[in-house]
Amino acid sequence: MVSMVRLERLRADHAPALLAFERENRAYFARTVPDRGDAYFAGFAAYHAARLAEQETGGIHFHVVLDDDGGDGDSGSEGGRLIGRVNLVDVERGTAELGYRIAERAAGRGVATAAVAALCRLAATTYGLTSLTARTTLDNPASRTVLERNGFVFAEHTTVGDRPGVRYEREL
Ligand SMILES: CC(C)(COP(=O)(O)OP(=O)(O)OC[C@H]1O[C@@H](n2cnc3c(N)ncnc32)[C@H](O)[C@@H]1OP(=O)(O)O)[C@@H](O)C(=O)NCCC(=O)NCCS
Repeated sequence: MVSMVRLERLRADHAPALLAFERENRAYFARTVPDRGDAYFAGFAAYHAARLAEQETGGIHFHVVLDDDGGDGDSGSEGGRLIGRVNLVDVERGTAELGYRIAERAAGRGVATAAVAALCRLAATTYGLTSLTARTTLDNPASRTVLERNGFVFAEHTTVGDRPGVRYEREL
């Protein structure tokens, strides 16, 4: 199934929806990626401000993923619920590392695949990058599928946290 998604570069006013997204999906995400810890949730406002400051320096490019529920929701005239995030970190010398997470309620509909595709386009155009790298654990086949469908190829075996994983690369 093809999902329509829209990316927005992270802004200050995304904070409430982003915190709600992370809270609602905390246990779900913790099954595959390290939990952010209680301090992240307790200190969310400061954490969010710090990420925005870092983004200003060009070291990271964070984005929220919105669905295409336009129209008469209560989330503003643009419409769309925050259903995920796709981020670039360690931006330097024309490359960056990709990371992403999609809400449990939106899983299995091609959202991650579409959002990563959109971010790869942004990376090449708006951010002027020439390659991306991404890591995932071996036991995350959905994530590996998302990368492989977006033209990422095996680069090396690695560890993610303390778990065996794979690093992928893609030229843009
Ligand atoms: C991994 C994640 C991003 C996938 O998001 P998603 O929107 O469900 O992904 P998509 O629907 O675009 O594609 C996933 C594909 O993997 C497939 N898949 C899912 N579970 C699978 C499994 N156990 N084995 C093989 N393929 C699997 C899906 O069927 C889908 O393919 P399909 O379109 O042919 O059905 C999401 O589950 C997530 O955020 N998980 C928690 C955080 C995380 O793991 N982030 C990535 C860290 S590297």
